[in-house]
Amino acid sequence: MAEGSQAKPDRNLALELVRVTEAAALASARWVGRGDKIAADGAAVDAMRLVLDSVSMDGTVVIGEGEKDEAPMLYNGERIGDGTPPVVDIAVDPLEGTRLCALGMPSAIAVIALAERGSMFDPGPCVYMEKMAGGEEIADLLDLDRPLPETLKLIAERKGGSVGDVTVVMLDRPRHEDAIREVREAGARIRLITDGDVSAALLAVSERSPVDLLWGIGGTPEGVISAAALKSMGGQLLGRLWPRNDDERQAALDAGYDLTRVLTANDLCGGEDVFFSATGVTDGDVLEGVRYRGSGVTTESLVMRSRSGTVRRVHARHDRAKLRAILGAGAERYG
Ligand code: FBP
Repeated sequence: MAEGSQAKPDRNLALELVRVTEAAALASARWVGRGDKIAADGAAVDAMRLVLDSVSMDGTVVIGEGEKDEAPMLYNGERIGDGTPPVVDIAVDPLEGTRLCALGMPSAIAVIALAERGSMFDPGPCVYMEKMAGGEEIADLLDLDRPLPETLKLIAERKGGSVGDVTVVMLDRPRHEDAIREVREAGARIRLITDGDVSAALLAVSERSPVDLLWGIGGTPEGVISAAALKSMGGQLLGRLWPRNDDERQAALDAGYDLTRVLTANDLCGGEDVFFSATGVTDGDVLEGVRYRGSGVTTESLVMRSRSGTVRRVHARHDRAKLRAILGAGAERYG
């Protein structure tokens, strides 16, 4: 709502965005377990782009599928909408966890976030960032410079348990070998995931979550998208750019990035009115995936707006025959 006690409720774009992520999830779900992550991603991109056109706005993609010459749709800089207000930045990941989808593994999602123009962090040449995220209760304990075992001890104390009770979710990557060893030596537990650190961040900040902390080096765009969700869900995410090699480090320094800076969720997504929607593609802890039930297909989405702090869980049943009739040619892609 706009400021002031007499302010009228205004448009909540997230309620329109849920159709966008539902479409992307429905399209990519046709590819679950079929071993083709490129086709799965392509289907999600097509569907997301198609339905995004129905949202009236003046949007620019700032976190998209790459540069224009490598991505035909949802490329960085692409203008979306009919040019009417609001003027927004758009961050998309039509299929977050392409491999998860292709292999039929848990926690692939379709996701989008919108915020006021200029309020989202531009990752520039940095593909990766070191990330740490946790819920409200431990938000003040997060620190990328303190040794991980010490932070785990503080989290255990805060939660009234022992380090053995603490679970860290991490991407299973060789670059995390040392950290995995340290966490294990400290006595904490680890949930290793093959992909999908946006889902993992959502899980880490959720209430009654089976994991306490997300730690690891993952995609910078995924960091910005996760931060957009935290604006409504609460909790904290810290990030620090992590260049992969000397060339990337130099390119980042030349572009004016401070590689020592610890970015908070607010630095990554600074808007006051941030809209977010994610729909499950495969079943996960945070969202149920797309399920086919005879003539229907169901989806589950998380839909949020930071200004009101409303977090909705939207369960939808879609009529497969009607969807096909409305969408016409190629509509079998949706179910
Ligand atoms: P895609 O959906 O693009 O395949 O990315 C999945 C993902 O696991 C992200 O969740 C994560 O941030 C990133 O890849 C990690 O990158 P990498 O696989 O190169 O370690």
